Amino acid sequence: MILLVTGTDTGVGKTVVTAAVAVLTEGLRVAVLKPAQTGTALGDDDAATVRRLAGPGITTRTLARYPDPLAPLAAARISRLPALTLDDTLAAVASLGEDHDLVLIEGAGGLLVPMGHGWTVADLAMQLDCPALVVARAGLGTINHTALTLEALERRRIEAYVAIGSWPAHPELVHRTNVDDLPGLCVGVVPEGVGEWPHARFRARAAQWFTPEFRELLD
Ligand SMILES: Nc1ncnc2c1ncn2[C@@H]1O[C@H](COP(=O)(O)OP(=O)(O)O)[C@@H](O)[C@H]1O
Ligand SMILES: [Mg+2]
Repeated sequence: MILLVTGTDTGVGKTVVTAAVAVLTEGLRVAVLKPAQTGTALGDDDAATVRRLAGPGITTRTLARYPDPLAPLAAARISRLPALTLDDTLAAVASLGEDHDLVLIEGAGGLLVPMGHGWTVADLAMQLDCPALVVARAGLGTINHTALTLEALERRRIEAYVAIGSWPAHPELVHRTNVDDLPGLCVGVVPEGVGEWPHARFRARAAQWFTPEFRELLD
């Protein structure tokens, strides 16, 4: 199974949700692919975060790294490094799929961010014919951002699920009404703060953050 983890925006918790999905099902061989990692000059390394949270049993692969914290295509241009191609990304997914049961792909930013020349992660999901998990914020503005992302996915006939990336420890009225009114099928709510947890605790708790139906889908 292949799953694209995308989001309504950058900084919404895609990496933490990816790590949680990676440990949801016991006994699966799981790989996490980060096609393009930007902001490496600031130390950003989502694959390292996934390994820290999910533990060393997860395969991680990053195809392109760029120093500036920009969208991948802009980051490639500014640093005069080659842009990532859709074909190379598809080849990496296929290669990981040969010896893993679940391949998770974490995009950069949201669904329509330029990943390379003329392609976004939406194109990747269409080529792979795989579902997308949309990570959304809990706070004000999330209904609109989530609806826009779901509409873009629906238009491309990409199956979509929604998860909240960081649910506040002390939810306010806006968070509670948002979770009630969030469009799409919400399959997960990941509490805030778990991105700092040691991996044994993270692994032990992750299953509680997702619906049983979503866990079954991954099996
Ligand atoms: N559930 C969470 N628990 C703790 N920290 C979180 C959580 N979700 C997001 N964060 C923090 O918020 C920031 C953005 O999260 P990240 O997973 O990197 O988002 P994205 O991958 O969507 O850019 C990071 O600094 C991360 O540590
Ligand atoms: Mg990330």
